[in-house]
Amino acid sequence: MNKIKKIAVMTSGGDAPGMNAAIRSVVRACAFHGVECIGIYRGYEGMIDGDFIDLNARSVKGIINKGGTFLKSARSKEFRTKAGRKKAYESLKAAHVDALVSIGGDGTFTGAMIFNQEFNFPVIGIPGTIDNDIFGTSHTLGYDTTLNTVVDVIDKIRDTASSHNRLFFVEVMGRDVGHIALNVGVGAGAEEILIPEEDLGLDRLLESLVRSKESGKSSSIVVVAEGDRIGKNVFELKDYVEEHLPEYEVRVSVLGHMQRGGSPSCFDRVLASRMGVKAVESLLEGKSNYMVGLSSDTIQLTPLDKAIKGQSKINKELIRVSDIMTT
Ligand code: F6P
Repeated sequence: MNKIKKIAVMTSGGDAPGMNAAIRSVVRACAFHGVECIGIYRGYEGMIDGDFIDLNARSVKGIINKGGTFLKSARSKEFRTKAGRKKAYESLKAAHVDALVSIGGDGTFTGAMIFNQEFNFPVIGIPGTIDNDIFGTSHTLGYDTTLNTVVDVIDKIRDTASSHNRLFFVEVMGRDVGHIALNVGVGAGAEEILIPEEDLGLDRLLESLVRSKESGKSSSIVVVAEGDRIGKNVFELKDYVEEHLPEYEVRVSVLGHMQRGGSPSCFDRVLASRMGVKAVESLLEGKSNYMVGLSSDTIQLTPLDKAIKGQSKINKELIRVSDIMTT
């Protein structure tokens, strides 16, 4: 007999397009199964404070297409302490909550796993981060939307770069991995892509830019992952190239947090809807300490500790494609 009568849902870490769609799915899956649902505002901070809101199928109408998260997100120092987690546990029990769906990245899942270990509190994670750096899923929520957002922006930068025969360094997000940079670089036809997983080196970068010029390219785009380790940030790269290749006029665009905004793509809305249902139904089946993920178009479960410890690998075949495309 299922003993879970009320499920809480929260969002944590960097927000991502699709989080609202995932919240909507969790709430509606609870309603479908006759289970109560509450939303936790501001992630673990709000859990400690008991900052909750009752949610029903109608509460989440009209949000599937909204970026961000209406439950807000926050990073909580207090939840890193046992005392903070105990307060959070007491808040949930006072609200008669039996299980938790936690939407976020690896930091969110680490907190959820420790919380489960300390209080034996059922939890299922949904991977929500634009970085796509979570093991156990081919796509995290928000990743597809961000790729489309950034490709569109780079196309716009290409217009002005070609009008002025300029080289642009475009820095994109992705924390310590290069999935965003590699995919948008190929998608936008960048002349070079700098990612943490491959150390191109300054000399090879200069050689590549010289080759571009010699091949008749009058403008170039170099996409730089924010975690890239070429040893210089994009502004230093600009100065370095201008010093060594005076024939180039160089500009920099750091795209920043606009990469996290915008209406989620259809892919992310569908993925969010599938993950929310799987998370709720896994809890109702008595499962806990898993992350839901996408693999070969199937929604599957990965143990949270594997999702946290695992590494998301850069796509070597795509790196080879990008090298060929810049011939
Ligand atoms: O993890 C998502 C992300 O956008 C990273 O790509 C980026 O490095 C980081 O969050 C920025 O964090 P904040 O929003 O706290 O500045």
